[in-house]
Amino acid sequence: MDAREWVDLLKKYDEIVEINEEIDWNLEVSAYTAMASRVGDGRSSILFNNIKGYGPGNGRIHGAFTAGSRRRPWRKSALALGMDPDIGWKEFRDEFIRRFKHPIKPMVVDDSEAPCKENKMIGKEVDLLKFPWPFIHQTDGGRYSAGFQSEIIEDPDTGWVNWGNYRMMILSKNRFTGLQVFGQHGPTIFYTKYEARNKPAPFCYILGGDPAILYATGSALPAGVCEADYVGALRQEPLKVVRAETNKLFVPAEAEIVIEGEIMPHERADEGPIGEYTGYVHSKNKMPVFYVHAITYRSNPIITLSTEGVSFNDNMTVFNTIFSVEAYQAFRDAGFPVTDVRGLGEVSYATVVIATEVPYPGYIRELTNFFDSHKGSIWGSSGIIVDADVDISGEDMSYKVYQEMATKCDPKRDIFITYTDHYSPPLSPMVSAKDRLLGTKGCRWWWNCTTPRTWAKREKVNAVAGSDLFPQDMIFKSRSKLDSLGVK
Ligand SMILES: Cc1cc2nc3c(=O)[nH]c(=O)nc-3n(C[C@H](O)[C@H](O)[C@H](O)COP(=O)(O)O)c2cc1C
Repeated sequence: MDAREWVDLLKKYDEIVEINEEIDWNLEVSAYTAMASRVGDGRSSILFNNIKGYGPGNGRIHGAFTAGSRRRPWRKSALALGMDPDIGWKEFRDEFIRRFKHPIKPMVVDDSEAPCKENKMIGKEVDLLKFPWPFIHQTDGGRYSAGFQSEIIEDPDTGWVNWGNYRMMILSKNRFTGLQVFGQHGPTIFYTKYEARNKPAPFCYILGGDPAILYATGSALPAGVCEADYVGALRQEPLKVVRAETNKLFVPAEAEIVIEGEIMPHERADEGPIGEYTGYVHSKNKMPVFYVHAITYRSNPIITLSTEGVSFNDNMTVFNTIFSVEAYQAFRDAGFPVTDVRGLGEVSYATVVIATEVPYPGYIRELTNFFDSHKGSIWGSSGIIVDADVDISGEDMSYKVYQEMATKCDPKRDIFITYTDHYSPPLSPMVSAKDRLLGTKGCRWWWNCTTPRTWAKREKVNAVAGSDLFPQDMIFKSRSKLDSLGVK
């Protein structure tokens, strides 16, 4: 699948609207995208075909490209990965994990088979401003690609190539910068190795292509593996890649835009501010500068847009989905009797909810220590643990979780803090700007809402609602009757 087939699929399922009137890249596309996410279940993407100053045929913007639905945040992810969009959360999660266990190496194709080579700008011809980058929030520091874009860079010591999802802020015709959160693989770990040798770091930035790329590059995969192999895993066939024009890296043949160049050592520019998924403006930071030597692109390329921080958006669906799956897999692989993991939808992945058996005293601390050491846990500072039989897989997840917090958590016994001793949540306003850059003072509050292991069986509580107390046929009969009476 490529970005265009993705649009066609969304059309087929009536989950996208197209706007052909002229719309401004300056805030207007973003306002439309944010408002679309507020309507109903927040399910509609928008394709802007006519961007002010560019005109039809000269670049499109796909807003809320994976966002929604509010009630079933994994829905578009299922669709993007070729699953039934009506699949349940647990089935989706297990299928994602099943596929992720079988990485498939990419397949190299010739330039003639690579749509991303359709148009080229090399050297002095390079002009990033040829594309309609959106200006997303009034307080932002510049025009951004803050959606589906990935940075590809090689470890100068081992040859390991990392693909990671990192936003980019345009600085000029041939320069950009981007948020490179401390400790992530490519941008900080590899780049600082080049910088220590006083050498520029060759990079490629890719926009668009198979939406599965977004899921692999946004994942907290371990060191030493290449995300391209996991795109193959998710799609269950090799990703087609082609050699870049000016360096030896490989890029997806069906990418919409490929930007190639070098990150200069010892040079920094202001990145940000930008409105982030936390709902707050992430302050300006000094970040490395990317010099562009070549751009190859498909005609009328599609740029993606995620309007973060307002209402429902892509981060709340993609990021939340990826990290919930990953954390669940990590727990299960390590032998924890965890039955489900999900980020609390309203706050993306900042609050993790873990449903688990409690097999022995002291287990909860083992569980939280394990979670704190997981790479994907850096994005939040809070966690809630509920009993294994609390079903957090449904549309009413938040209601269930609040109910557990309000009724089963004894504040003097069950609320505690753990010190993660690695990152503090990098974009969170709870951390001072200085500590955010150092990134080392992380901690997390936990609400343990599980029934104490030591309680006798008779003391355990039974839920009042649901199929436990009413026979199935009675539930079915009453629902049918209410349906026939037109109760909505
Ligand atoms: C939609 C989306 C946008 C993201 N934007 C950024 C970003 O701008 N900067 C950043 O440091 N991480 C960002 N991330 C997080 C990284 O992509 C993610 O942590 C990834 O696991 C990093 O992988 P790596 O350490 O292998 O490079 C984003 C993730 C998603 C899903």
